[in-house]
Amino acid sequence: MEQPQGKMAQMWSGFMVWVDDRFPLTETFEYHMSKYYAPKNFNFWYFFGILSMIVLVIQLLTGIWLTMSYSPSDAFASVEYIMRDVEYGWLLRYLHSTGASAFFIVVYLHMFRGLMYGSYRQPRELLWLIGMAIFIVLMLEGFAGYLLPWGNMSYWGAQVIISLAGAIPFIGTDLMEWVRGDFLMSEVTLNRFFALHVVALPLVLVMLVFVHIVALHHVGSNNPDGIEIKEKKDANGIPLDGIPFHPYYTVGHDIPATVAFLFIFCVVVFYAPEMGGYFIEKPNFEIANPLVTPEHIAPVWYYTPFYAMLRAATFPLLGVPAKFWGLVVMGGAIMIPCVLPWLDRSPVKSLRYKGVVSKVMLGLFIISFFILGYLGTIAPSKAATALAQVCTVLYFAYFMLMPWYTRAERTKPVPDRVTTR
Ligand code: HEM
Repeated sequence: MEQPQGKMAQMWSGFMVWVDDRFPLTETFEYHMSKYYAPKNFNFWYFFGILSMIVLVIQLLTGIWLTMSYSPSDAFASVEYIMRDVEYGWLLRYLHSTGASAFFIVVYLHMFRGLMYGSYRQPRELLWLIGMAIFIVLMLEGFAGYLLPWGNMSYWGAQVIISLAGAIPFIGTDLMEWVRGDFLMSEVTLNRFFALHVVALPLVLVMLVFVHIVALHHVGSNNPDGIEIKEKKDANGIPLDGIPFHPYYTVGHDIPATVAFLFIFCVVVFYAPEMGGYFIEKPNFEIANPLVTPEHIAPVWYYTPFYAMLRAATFPLLGVPAKFWGLVVMGGAIMIPCVLPWLDRSPVKSLRYKGVVSKVMLGLFIISFFILGYLGTIAPSKAATALAQVCTVLYFAYFMLMPWYTRAERTKPVPDRVTTR
């Protein structure tokens, strides 16, 4: 029997009818939350999309408040002012600098999940490509942000990376000056990086995340079994293996994960914000000095796998200098996941049912990524360069050999319905 409504409840439903007549609020909530049927077998690896969103919000909020006290015309001193004089300025800065590293941790894990479960495969190719666009914008955002404190590593890091453009034949020198806006790294460069970091790139990032979710909810989520749940529906058209995203995943999955994540995040912010020089590098506590190069220039940890691949190209080829090939290898390493949807020819999506070669190749890919990440943080030596070259080959082999090994290997039979283990 229907319960008689109280006065407040009546007013609320009247208000909602008024809103819904003018804006599709209930419809949107149902489409994206309470009637979005997500596979019932999500696991640990499905935490990192929501966590990427949480970190994005942390970065946007702390970024806005930092900008209130930061000044690009007195960059280094204004960061010191934030750390010492602005109330809770140190907290804002550490939340933001730790947030940058946390962003890459959760996004790398989010991407790894995609590799494991074949989430890039049909019909999610565009979702994957939008994800790749997010990743590239995120890298640019981090790069622009790193220059802002105008520490000595900010200066020399940007100097090294921008001067790479100089290796491009014909247009290199002009391109370098165009990016810097000057003949050398200067306040002009700092000002434009500030504009990009604070306005242009966050805007693009937020728009891309929005379309990422629109695309995801259009095709539906993949799952650890790589089975399309939309293919088996009940009489009402609801996937048999789906459960409403809200409240099941919001309350039972994402909120606990967010609380656990924020706990670990706060421990780092309060007890190890520099993370032994990995999150904030030591030379960055000194002001930018064009006359004093830091002893060893290395980017922040999240770029080091790609930096190691850049340095792994040590010999000229076809009359073109090694520096240019380094640029090609690094650019190729960043971009190659874009073509994954068309490289994977396996009859199954998830690694659970793929053959042993796929598992070994993914394992080697991850190990080389970690080794490259380490090699990018240390000074180059003969042995380190040789190891970086081997790891670079393994990194690319995962992608370039995929059309063969995914077709040739023996796969396991995929169950009819999702499994909950
Ligand atoms: C700011 C960065 C990002 C945010 C906020 C974000 C957000 C999300 C969210 C909330 C989901 C659904 C929940 C989940 O599956 O974990 C998702 C799914 C997905 N994302 Fe992202 N994402 C980001 C970056 C990326 C990147 C860099 C890629 C890959 C290049 C990517 C590829 C995917 C794919 C393929 C799915 C569907 C996975 C599946 O259903 O198995 N995302 N994303």
